[in-house]
Amino acid sequence: MPPGFVIVQAPAKLNLFLEILGKRSDGYHELETLMVTVDLYDTLSFTEENSEEIRLQVIDAGRRRPSGRSEAESIPVGPENLVVRAAALLREFTGVRRGVRIELRKRIPAAAGLAGGSSDAAATLLALDRLWQLHLSPRDFHELAQRLGSDVAFFVSGKSAAVCRGRGELIEPIRLPCGLHFVVARPHDGLSTADVYRQYRPVGKKQHVEGLTSALMQGDLARAGRRMHNALETPAMNLSSDIETLKARFHRLPVLGHQMSGSGSAYFGLCANRRMSRQAASRLRAERTGSVWEVQVRS
Ligand code: C5P
Repeated sequence: MPPGFVIVQAPAKLNLFLEILGKRSDGYHELETLMVTVDLYDTLSFTEENSEEIRLQVIDAGRRRPSGRSEAESIPVGPENLVVRAAALLREFTGVRRGVRIELRKRIPAAAGLAGGSSDAAATLLALDRLWQLHLSPRDFHELAQRLGSDVAFFVSGKSAAVCRGRGELIEPIRLPCGLHFVVARPHDGLSTADVYRQYRPVGKKQHVEGLTSALMQGDLARAGRRMHNALETPAMNLSSDIETLKARFHRLPVLGHQMSGSGSAYFGLCANRRMSRQAASRLRAERTGSVWEVQVRS
């Protein structure tokens, strides 16, 4: 790679389990969630600039939406973008005064519960550490990640699977003994994370992640499918009829379990193997179910 240039991939995540244990005094919710990174990526390239400017350009690398409006067009490129905030925060933290040109090739849809923005922010911290030769410690990365968002710490950890607690920043990595295949569908409209959390009301008994982690460790995917859970699904359904529609469609597919990811609006099914995820994806595409991907957990 030429000097003054770094290119990285930022993966999407799926929440195989998400329980809300309570509301915190800082306004956030206390979580227990199992996240995995999957092979749907944004690509970010970083080029040294002579000026002190942080310049971001977003390019659509995915398919065009049915509306004709591209994913990239809906993404801000100013200081409200988490990538720009990550670069600015890193400069403030280290006192570095260098500029950078960032090109973000977007494949992960926004407002989907796939944490594209958080993953891009984590990738930015890690890439600029290399470009600017800062040699930050894992502890520094963790500290900066927390300031950028609840999911960012998981991505800077570089783990492909973890149980995350607290706001989402307390990471307990887990090793998955088997490859996991999924089919993911994203309806045309996204959902705002803050709106979905605001709709949440505690109902019934809390579920715990251990049933799912032990099923996964034993490679018992059928049991794992039955132990998946997402407490944000009901509040998301109150905001969008798309989630109910997706649930009904996935119910007819040969998947082992299905649910919404994070705060939605993406919905996914756990598949026994690649053949199953391919079959499920082609059925969803035939039904014109928004955007559809076959993905697997990163090894
Ligand atoms: O941390 P992040 O900026 O990604 O969170 C977006 C929004 O999601 C927060 O403003 C908050 O409303 C909600 N949230 C929450 N509890 C969490 C994580 C996120 O209430 N643990």
